[in-house]
Amino acid sequence: MEPDREKQLIESAIQARGNAYAPYSEFAVGAALLTSSGEIFTGCNVENASYGLAICAERGAICSAVSAGQREYQAIVIAATPLASPCGACRQFIVEFGKDINVIAVDPDNPARIKRWKSGELIPDSFEFDH
Ligand code: THU
Repeated sequence: MEPDREKQLIESAIQARGNAYAPYSEFAVGAALLTSSGEIFTGCNVENASYGLAICAERGAICSAVSAGQREYQAIVIAATPLASPCGACRQFIVEFGKDINVIAVDPDNPARIKRWKSGELIPDSFEFDH
């Protein structure tokens, strides 16, 4: 990924993290999704008094993009301290839209700490429904 574009996506994820609603875990997460057309959609985690209903930042960003009619993605950045790799549900959610999406995890408090994967390698043999 182009370094300037990645930097911009990281900034968007960090900004979205500021909106996290995480009163139970106090673990704030932001995500920024770059579409193939160059648009950025963001998400943050949204928790609930009924803990199991929490929605991760990644899924929020994807739902936002899909709701706007955007289904092709280049990359998704996840911002959290300490650095968080996507949970299993989010891996399945991301790979639904392609195995070649760049997944990048960053720690805003430690910018040198960064991890990069391809969506397909995060969830080998993911579930596919042949409809
Ligand atoms: N969380 C995310 O939003 N994304 C991740 O990749 C890991 C976990 C959220 C869910 C919950 O609100 C909090 O972090 C603690 O698990």
